[in-house]
Amino acid sequence: MKLLEGKTAMITGASRGIGKAIAIAFAGEGANIAFTDIRRDEVMEQTENELRALGVKAIGYASDASSFEDSERVVDAIAAEFVRIDVLVNNAGITRDNLLMRMAEADWDLVLKVNLKSAFNLTKAVQKYMLKQRSGSIINMSSVVGINGNAGQSNYSASKAGLIGFTKSIAQELGSRGIRCNAIAPGFIETDMTSKLPEEVRKEWAQKIPLRRGGKPEDVAQACIFFASNLSEYVTGQVLSVCGGMNM
Ligand code: NAI
Repeated sequence: MKLLEGKTAMITGASRGIGKAIAIAFAGEGANIAFTDIRRDEVMEQTENELRALGVKAIGYASDASSFEDSERVVDAIAAEFVRIDVLVNNAGITRDNLLMRMAEADWDLVLKVNLKSAFNLTKAVQKYMLKQRSGSIINMSSVVGINGNAGQSNYSASKAGLIGFTKSIAQELGSRGIRCNAIAPGFIETDMTSKLPEEVRKEWAQKIPLRRGGKPEDVAQACIFFASNLSEYVTGQVLSVCGGMNM
């Protein structure tokens, strides 16, 4: 028996990167996949095809996680199509890095809206289905910088720290209804997001990692399987760092 057989998982921002790796890992464990990204393009279609090749039902939806109305709309559409939503992964996220002295107000607002408010939007929309089912697992994609901070990322770090507070509050609100909520704090993971960083910054990060390598999206996906499945049925309100030990 696969770990997520018969379950439906919804993952935001999953046409590429960590979200895509999570979708593929969940499909490999038998879950049907509803995923979103900001637009429907060939990247989304490619991911949809890769998921279907694994023998599960998979549909990509164009939806802006930072929009309250759009999030409600897409969740209702997914619930109508897939009948249930067992797992929600709030993965969509962006960076607009700068030192505070150079950070524009618009970049603060945008990062908070896409990274933090999105989790409110989606979790609020999904909870009504999970409450009816009296079960569910919500996973929020935080970051090690949400725990430790990072110069040049005050907006991003604040959004990721906010997700940790949100995770613990939702775990307390919904635990008695059989709904768990946990966060993952990835370290340096090789994706489009980190490929934008200058080479010297990447080298500096690598030196801080006891396991001496950047993480792969699949490393994060493995931790998500743990939180999504019954392997973690007595675990809620926790933050798991997937960072090669760099947070010690
Ligand atoms: P990525 O940039 O490769 O992928 C993010 C995906 O989210 C993209 O497909 C993008 O189109 C989508 N997206 C952006 N805004 C959206 C919106 N408003 N609505 C729906 N989708 C949207 O990034 P990556 O590296 O895969 O990151 C995934 C998550 O993991 C993010 O929340 C990020 O902050 C977090 N993370 C990443 C780390 C890394 O080292 N790559 C480290 C720690 C956390």
